[in-house]
Amino acid sequence: MTTRISVNGMGHEVDLPGDVPLLWVLRDALGLTGSKFGCGIGACGACTVHVNGQAVRSCQVALEDVDGPVTTIEGIGSPDDLAILQAAWVEHQVAQCGYCQSGQIMQAASLLAEVPDPTDAQIDEAMQGNLCRCGTYNRIRAAIKLAATRMQGG
Ligand code: FES
Ligand code: FES
Repeated sequence: MTTRISVNGMGHEVDLPGDVPLLWVLRDALGLTGSKFGCGIGACGACTVHVNGQAVRSCQVALEDVDGPVTTIEGIGSPDDLAILQAAWVEHQVAQCGYCQSGQIMQAASLLAEVPDPTDAQIDEAMQGNLCRCGTYNRIRAAIKLAATRMQGG
């Protein structure tokens, strides 16, 4: 079955069964390996991408259910012009092993799009489904706060 899908502003046609999880479409069919497989059951957040601007667990979304443009970690910044959020991540040296971090950033980007100046409680609530076995939670919160300030011109 051929399905048309828009990822990071580019259209693609993929020839895969409709029940294939979006995560595998991204990683195996399109070669976008920034989104990670962690648990496969929607419990860790490592696979988080945006569909229609909303953070979703791509391991839990079937290809046939993708109902809008997809954005992955590869689509929100570039090596030459890091997105504000990614730059804040670098500044706070958030990543340890790094495995969870693309999902963390995509979840944080979704939060900041909805809540430009989140409190600690709002950050904790929004990020609670994104697990980090390296325990970078405090630095994630600091980076989100820095990015929020910068996005508001601070
Ligand atoms: S791999 Fe999707 S939530 Fe864990
Ligand atoms: S940085 Fe290692 S799992 Fe989060």
